[in-house]
Amino acid sequence: MEPVIEVKNLTKEYKKLKAVNDLSFEVQKGEILGLLGPNGSGKSTTINCILSLLKFSKGSIRIFGQEMKPNAYDIKRKIGVVFQEVAVFDELSVYDNIDYFCGLYVKDKKQRRQYIEDAIQLVGLEDFKKFLPKQLSGGLLRRLNIACGIAHKPSLIFLDEPTVAVDPQSRNNILDGIKTLRDQGATIVYTTHYMEEVELLCDRVIIIDKGQILASGTNDELKALANMEEKVTIETKHLRKEQFDYLQSLPNVLEATYQAHQLVIVYRQGNHNLSHLMEYFKQEQIQYDRMYSQRPTLNDVFLKLTGKELRD
Ligand SMILES: Nc1ncnc2c1ncn2[C@@H]1O[C@H](COP(=O)(O)OP(=O)(O)OP(=O)(O)O)[C@@H](O)[C@H]1O
Ligand SMILES: [Mg+2]
Repeated sequence: MEPVIEVKNLTKEYKKLKAVNDLSFEVQKGEILGLLGPNGSGKSTTINCILSLLKFSKGSIRIFGQEMKPNAYDIKRKIGVVFQEVAVFDELSVYDNIDYFCGLYVKDKKQRRQYIEDAIQLVGLEDFKKFLPKQLSGGLLRRLNIACGIAHKPSLIFLDEPTVAVDPQSRNNILDGIKTLRDQGATIVYTTHYMEEVELLCDRVIIIDKGQILASGTNDELKALANMEEKVTIETKHLRKEQFDYLQSLPNVLEATYQAHQLVIVYRQGNHNLSHLMEYFKQEQIQYDRMYSQRPTLNDVFLKLTGKELRD
């Protein structure tokens, strides 16, 4: 099967800064690919280069099997873009904004009416059709921005951080809408610096930092890179030094800390860590309030690969 997007050795320089540094990746038909990276890692620059909106220093981009160029209108017609910055007309209503953007591609009025209704329904703006952008909350405005980008039913969609500074209700609505678009057959490139979103939404993830790919794969493949099985936290005031030393010295323990009445143990890959720990607490008659286990997150992967948190 031919990939929908092929990026080869993409490099974009701003004077001495390599905003994107020798990036190569593919996007397969029907997947949601997540580009995950901290602020300034090069996500928007990558997208803008793929779309031929920015000139790049080196590399090649193919979309739908054809070379992407600034005047490749037959390719661009099949693409929907939702930019990081909201870009709608202040003087047009919700409905008329979507009508305008959809009308750039869909000339048939009857079909367009249906497409606009579909877009409004997808983002849940049914009750706001006649509202002006300035009358919308931040979350609703983001939803309008998305509706404008996808109303013409593109088969390839780019969304650049569509949930930044959005309330939880709008965020859930946006994430559900994106899944619906994928289920309807669209291929989606989604950038974010929220790892939770990537875990919920994306079929495959590329982690980027300083314009370079650090790792890519499914969520599970990436989490395997964290090289840890789980992190167990126990709230207790009663652990003695020799007991802590014993737990810390166990061969499958990567790291252990005991601070502020919290024992945290990070285990390397293996089984039965939690049950072993519970048995030990019972046998030693150590009282504790809560004990819980967490699986590695993409933040643990990022920490492992870069030595820093995804969100500093
Ligand atoms: N027009 C420009 N001129 C000079 N440097 C730029 C320009 N645009 C972006 N950069 C730099 O390129 C790097 C990548 O920026 P980019 O906007 O692609 O990051 P990003 O991952 O999208 O970040 P964010 O999460 O903040 O949106 C940053 O160091 C940024 O400062
Ligand atoms: Mg950006």
